[in-house]
Amino acid sequence: MPRRISDEIISNICDENDIIDYVSQYVTLKKTGRDYSGLCPFHSEKSPSFHVSREKQLFHCFGCGASGNLVQFVMRTENLDFVDALKLLADRAGIVIPEDDENFSSADHEKKKRILAMNKYAARFFYDCLKDPKTGQNAQQYFKKRSISWKTITVYGLGYASDRRDVLLKYLASKGFKTDEVVEAGLAVSRDGRIYDKFRDRVMFPIIDVRGNVIGFGGRIMHNNKEINGYKIPKYLNSPETPVFDKGRNLFSLNLAKNSKSSDIILCEGYMDVISVYQAGIQNIVATLGTAITENQAKLMLRYAGEILICYDSDEAGIKAALRAIDIIADAGGRSRVIRLNNAKDPDEYINKNGIEKFREAVKNAIPATEFKISLIKNKYDITYTNGKILFIDEAVDVFTHLKDAVEIDAYITKTAEDTGISRDAIFSKYREKTSKSSYKKIPNKTEYQKKSAQRQRETEKKERVSASLLEAEKRLLGLISQSKKLYKIAVSQIGEAEFSTDVYRRIAKSIYDSYSNGMPPDPAMILNAFSGSDISEASEVFYNLEIYSGDEATVRELLYTIKLEKLNIRISTETDAAILAQLFTERQRLLDEKNTWEE
Ligand code: CTP
Ligand code: MN
Repeated sequence: MPRRISDEIISNICDENDIIDYVSQYVTLKKTGRDYSGLCPFHSEKSPSFHVSREKQLFHCFGCGASGNLVQFVMRTENLDFVDALKLLADRAGIVIPEDDENFSSADHEKKKRILAMNKYAARFFYDCLKDPKTGQNAQQYFKKRSISWKTITVYGLGYASDRRDVLLKYLASKGFKTDEVVEAGLAVSRDGRIYDKFRDRVMFPIIDVRGNVIGFGGRIMHNNKEINGYKIPKYLNSPETPVFDKGRNLFSLNLAKNSKSSDIILCEGYMDVISVYQAGIQNIVATLGTAITENQAKLMLRYAGEILICYDSDEAGIKAALRAIDIIADAGGRSRVIRLNNAKDPDEYINKNGIEKFREAVKNAIPATEFKISLIKNKYDITYTNGKILFIDEAVDVFTHLKDAVEIDAYITKTAEDTGISRDAIFSKYREKTSKSSYKKIPNKTEYQKKSAQRQRETEKKERVSASLLEAEKRLLGLISQSKKLYKIAVSQIGEAEFSTDVYRRIAKSIYDSYSNGMPPDPAMILNAFSGSDISEASEVFYNLEIYSGDEATVRELLYTIKLEKLNIRISTETDAAILAQLFTERQRLLDEKNTWEE
């Protein structure tokens, strides 16, 4: 997967997709003046304050401030990151994004496209087989027995692969796919010199990536026999790894979970768990694809979730897997908690037995990863005895050495002291001993959150030294010069790109200046691609000028004057050196005089 896409390709993708066309899928747009407007998809409102400009290829909501270019619109509506949003738009326009992987060739790309097309046909075919009253009868019964509704079947695109030897092969052949290709897609296998459909007499679960591609399948037998006629048969059969199916980088149902409003993602083991829970109304749930969780999968979830709630089976294997998942999620830089389900082996069974409200309760009561680890260690020992206490503390402290937050470490040590009656000091010195010995030695680090809030604090402080009228003037100036080379020429002689007051404005100024010096008019939608998060709105407002932002040479002069004056005023208000202060006053006087001359 390329994570870098060249500006040229980005620019092609943006050129080939029109923002009005795209947004119209979500919002009924009406032409109003130079813009189109409609009800904002990002907040609820009764009268339209959401504007889209074809000319600038930008959207802006005057109600909630949501703002940006088409890529950013896709990022928000589809919950995708920048690269995935670009890929979606590229697919839409039929543009090939060359991968920066050196093995890339357009033949590879062509192959992937054909496999995805085959998978789509296959999913459709399995679904139709399930729907067919005759071929699908048993499978329909099966889903019914497991309380899966038709609505859920449609949401997940579930299906049935018939027990006949090569119906899918024949169907795909009729669509122009060769046998070799079907084998490479993992939909057929060769055995004893013959080629068969891979999935036979199974209910089918398509695996769909965040961009909506069917990348593979899982298929389940419709009974619970481990073997038939002496042949072992696996309960689930999954597509093999193919050029489009990487089991360590995708998750079942993330395409749906990413759109849920929840800030967490529940991670469970089975497809049926996910489907049951989703059907019961909880959408932020995913499962791995028949393999143990990888760091890539953890990172993928963390793109959409603040915290991962692990909800694995309650058997020993499930507990072991949960412990591994905790560490992998931590390695990926995330936090996790563990959902414990009593009296059921997995979430599906739990919901069917106890109902969704009880499940919600269990989710709410998910325990922090460390607490989960400690509780397991505690279960191993009888801590009413001295020996049990010693062993328990030793293992518990091992867990603490992996913690990064000083307060957290302290809290757990205190808790362990209370639980065992051993002094805090003794446990703490054990902790010190282990951390100084271990190669892991780490001074409790600032958490990401602490780092971010410190940075936010610094930025607010910086902003406070900048007046609102200064920011307003800079914003307007940038907007004006982005539309007119003549106005740009006036500005560039008087204000350098580094002299703007916020990081966002400086970056925009640089883009505008660079564009003009390369002989090109600046492209606002392209410039916005460089921004993310809350910066998008700040940047977008520069370009999203309605009539209030129209202006001429006189306006630009006025703005430049305001900017200079405001800057001087700020310096004057903070300067303590008398000599410099005197200089600043002189400068200000000169500025005021100048203004008087050009105003006459
Ligand atoms: N799995 C697999 N191959 C198997 C068994 C399991 O790939 N032979 C994977 C599947 O992704 C499955 C998950 O492991 O969804 C969990 O397996 P299990 O707990 O056995 O199945 P459930 O999801 O609980 O399915 P069911 O309730 O239908 O038994
Ligand atoms: Mn199950």
